[in-house]
Amino acid sequence: MVRGRCTADMDVIVLKKSSAVAACGAGLIQQLLQTKPAAVLGLATGNTPLAMYQCLITACDNGDVSFRDVTTFNLDEYVGIDAGNPASYRSTMKRELFDRIDIDQARTYLPESDAGVDPSATGPAYEEAILAAGGIDLQVLGIGRNGHIGFNEPTSSLGSRTRIKTLTQQTLQSNSQYFADSGTQPQVAVTMGIATILDARHILLLATGVEKAQAVRDAIEGPVTAMCPASALQLHRKVTVLLDDEAASCLAMRDYYDWVHRQKQRFGKEFTAC
Ligand code: F6R
Repeated sequence: MVRGRCTADMDVIVLKKSSAVAACGAGLIQQLLQTKPAAVLGLATGNTPLAMYQCLITACDNGDVSFRDVTTFNLDEYVGIDAGNPASYRSTMKRELFDRIDIDQARTYLPESDAGVDPSATGPAYEEAILAAGGIDLQVLGIGRNGHIGFNEPTSSLGSRTRIKTLTQQTLQSNSQYFADSGTQPQVAVTMGIATILDARHILLLATGVEKAQAVRDAIEGPVTAMCPASALQLHRKVTVLLDDEAASCLAMRDYYDWVHRQKQRFGKEFTAC
């Protein structure tokens, strides 16, 4: 037996509805905070984690969880947008989570580039800040329709670290809903790299909706390739994937994942949040 090493495989859990994905993800985070109240969380923006954040807000209101000692690092932030702009990821996180839980906002980090600061300096500083915090215990991820994680667009190096990335037309189009005037939509962001994400001790990937089904299949069952950045998660020792039926609809091994999950529930091992 190898001591001190996690030997878990990717855990693929398919739930009926997106609301169950949210509740299950929140349960996993609550479990972590029960054992490690000063955990370091990696967080994502986008539509997918919003319902999970709402579950955490409710749990915090009910006194079932506290974020008092938690530190957070978000995956990404646009370049050339003020933190106070409602479309910035800082504003989004404040609105959707930070202002509504008991977290100390001085310990909520995003890869922001202050005005007048060269954004290329932001990446290395962010990597150092993550290391100084002791590394990320649990990294929450969504997935783009093109398989991106963070803003690591297809062809991103699997060894990449936090840096500036130019967004694809597909990503710009998906995210245009957040910008009333397309002329103000940033085309460049600073994002954790794929290697940065893989450094997290546990990764929680959430995907809901049929429009994610092909990317989910490529990520879980396709070859590990920079053309699908999320496929790099296959190299990680501890990944939990929470899907609704629609997002799981292209998976070839769906029956097997359900079978494995039932076995784990039966024997009460590793995962009890769902
Ligand atoms: C968000 C992020 C992106 C999103 C992805 C999915 O910080 O880095 O990778 O997770 O684009 O977005 P939604 O959830 O809006 O479909």
